[in-house]
Amino acid sequence: MDFAQRIADLRKELEKHNHLYYVLSQPEISDYNYDMMLKELEKLEKEHPEYADPNSPTQRVGSDLNVEFVQVTHKYPMLSLNNTYNEDELSDFDERVNKDLADSYRYVCELKYDGASISLTYRNGELLRAVTRGDGVQGDDVTSNVRTIRSIPLKLHGSGWPEEFEIRGEIMMPHAVFDKLNEERVEIGETPFANPRNAASGTLKMQNSAQVAKRSLDCFLYFMLGERLPAQSHFENLQKAREWGFKVPPYVAVCDHMEQVRRFIEKWSVDRDKLPFDIDGIVIKVDSLTQQRQLGMRAKSPRWAVAYKFPAERVETRLNSISYQVGRTGTVTPVANLEPVRLAGTTVKRASLHNADQIQLLDIRVGDTVFVEKGGEIIPKVIGVNMEKRPADSQPTQFITHCPECNAELKRNEGEAAWYCPGENDCPPQIKGRVEHFISRRAMNIDSLGEGKIELLYEKGLVHDVADLYSLKYGQLFGLEKVAVDEDGNIRKTGFRERTAEKILSGIEASKQAPFERTLYAIGIRFVGETIARKLARSFHDIDKLAKATFEELVSVDEIGDRIAASVVDFFGRPTNRAIVERLKQAGLQFASDESAHQVKSEALKDKTIVVSGVFSIPRDDIKKMVEEHGGKNSSSISSKTDYVLAGEKMGPEKLKKAETLGVPTISEDEFMKLIGG
Ligand code: IVH
Repeated sequence: MDFAQRIADLRKELEKHNHLYYVLSQPEISDYNYDMMLKELEKLEKEHPEYADPNSPTQRVGSDLNVEFVQVTHKYPMLSLNNTYNEDELSDFDERVNKDLADSYRYVCELKYDGASISLTYRNGELLRAVTRGDGVQGDDVTSNVRTIRSIPLKLHGSGWPEEFEIRGEIMMPHAVFDKLNEERVEIGETPFANPRNAASGTLKMQNSAQVAKRSLDCFLYFMLGERLPAQSHFENLQKAREWGFKVPPYVAVCDHMEQVRRFIEKWSVDRDKLPFDIDGIVIKVDSLTQQRQLGMRAKSPRWAVAYKFPAERVETRLNSISYQVGRTGTVTPVANLEPVRLAGTTVKRASLHNADQIQLLDIRVGDTVFVEKGGEIIPKVIGVNMEKRPADSQPTQFITHCPECNAELKRNEGEAAWYCPGENDCPPQIKGRVEHFISRRAMNIDSLGEGKIELLYEKGLVHDVADLYSLKYGQLFGLEKVAVDEDGNIRKTGFRERTAEKILSGIEASKQAPFERTLYAIGIRFVGETIARKLARSFHDIDKLAKATFEELVSVDEIGDRIAASVVDFFGRPTNRAIVERLKQAGLQFASDESAHQVKSEALKDKTIVVSGVFSIPRDDIKKMVEEHGGKNSSSISSKTDYVLAGEKMGPEKLKKAETLGVPTISEDEFMKLIGG
């Protein structure tokens, strides 16, 4: 048998049926027959590894190997669109286009898909690379994850594609997949995703492509770029893309007049609810590529296209009760418990009521029918009451006077809208909240410890303040378990097995290297956010000087106002806080700023940019510190400006390849040590 031929035939056949199923929704063969062919191909590929191909249909199941993403610079920057919110703004757009173009023009209207944007590059008819938007200039290479998305062709159909081109689109998570995923997450005690967009972009960034494959993402394409495109019309190019096997959505209109554009908008403002995925507006593009070039670009968006954003969706539902949440700083936030209602793609059961003043101002009462709104990523909020539906016996809302968690009498500072619980050392959500803040990504970044785990550690009496984290022992963690039922009746399991316990301890250990400014932010001084923490770290250099600083000294620092200064003085005035800081210091956390911590030991790496990647005999952060101590600069992405890649074990193959392609020398840990004379 000619194995090469059989492999090629099977791949072609499978790719064809894949397209029929996932792009056209017109399957021609049974799942069983598909699986049989796939099995045969898998077997042949295993027996003949010389025919391996990353774009074979067998690769769609992904791999269990963890990858680190390589940053790639976009050939054409990924711009965003200018937004318009009403008819007037839209007319302004059309007037500008009209003024700048000599000839007549037409628009293509499309839906604005609410997912994660992706750029796909094809070379010789095969998927070469898939890159996220990133900051628009550089994004993450997520090719191995994107290969698992069945509606994305790995090899193109038909003919006539340019040798190399880029096609952009949106990675989407359909509602059905999203709902199921969130149900599963709740069941295993993980935080559900806020919306399908977050779920899609979160999935796309997963390090394990086999996991991505299980999440059934979809991808709609809407923009082709390249030097030799088939046509000078955006619309025609997309029709071609469809012939080549891409999922180009059918929801488009070619419009000669603004009136048609308006009708398209009107139609989809209503019909969007019937779509099985989220859209957040309409995109209007000038069709002719020649005219697109004439109109040109602004810094961040094209002049030839605009987005029309739908107004925030609003629904009515009953306010069943009000509960009160206590945050880490003691602030009490009223939360509306609503009769569940579908809003912008998700089911809403709770919404923010902001504070006591807001409740009073809007006269919101239990039993009322309230208006709930959701805009962008923000939590839904109650924006008013339908007074006509108010029950006759309704009673004005009395804001609580005592903390629902620890029963302390609530207080309110002059000039502030929020009530707060003063029981900071006895009030469970405040204690847990402080630890949660401390471990959060932008603070100490101990990502092996999530919310549920802190809860468990607190309940078992192991962690009462942030310093307790540093005396945790393996024996205390291993085997801890808790099963709880949440407000929605879902079972949440939290438990520490071997690997979890180890990861937690190594995460805690690694956090000791976090720079002073992050530690300062992490300890949670009221009003001291990341920027202020940086400012304070730079101005006072170490925690002792900061702790001794007077109100006057603090306000003399640029950007430090009365409120922050008073809060810092208050924080260090409390013996409990001073004791915690002292214990953290003993544990080895960084309490002095970089300048004093990083002594320069040599100039061996002067002006050298180094990418440290993989696993070493000592923690990676220590290596990075050495780079700086010897005059070098750390960078996380390999580019032509990189001088060395310091490669440890398990460094991703894609990174190695990139270093090779760019001709950047790769050095080992030993070689690095020699280089710095150690
Ligand atoms: S065209 C230069 N078409 O919206 C214009 N974008 O705010 C390139 N988006 O980052 C984009 N649906 O992720 C285009 N039909 C559509 C779209 C669309 C959604 C997203 C895209 C882009 C963002 C711009």
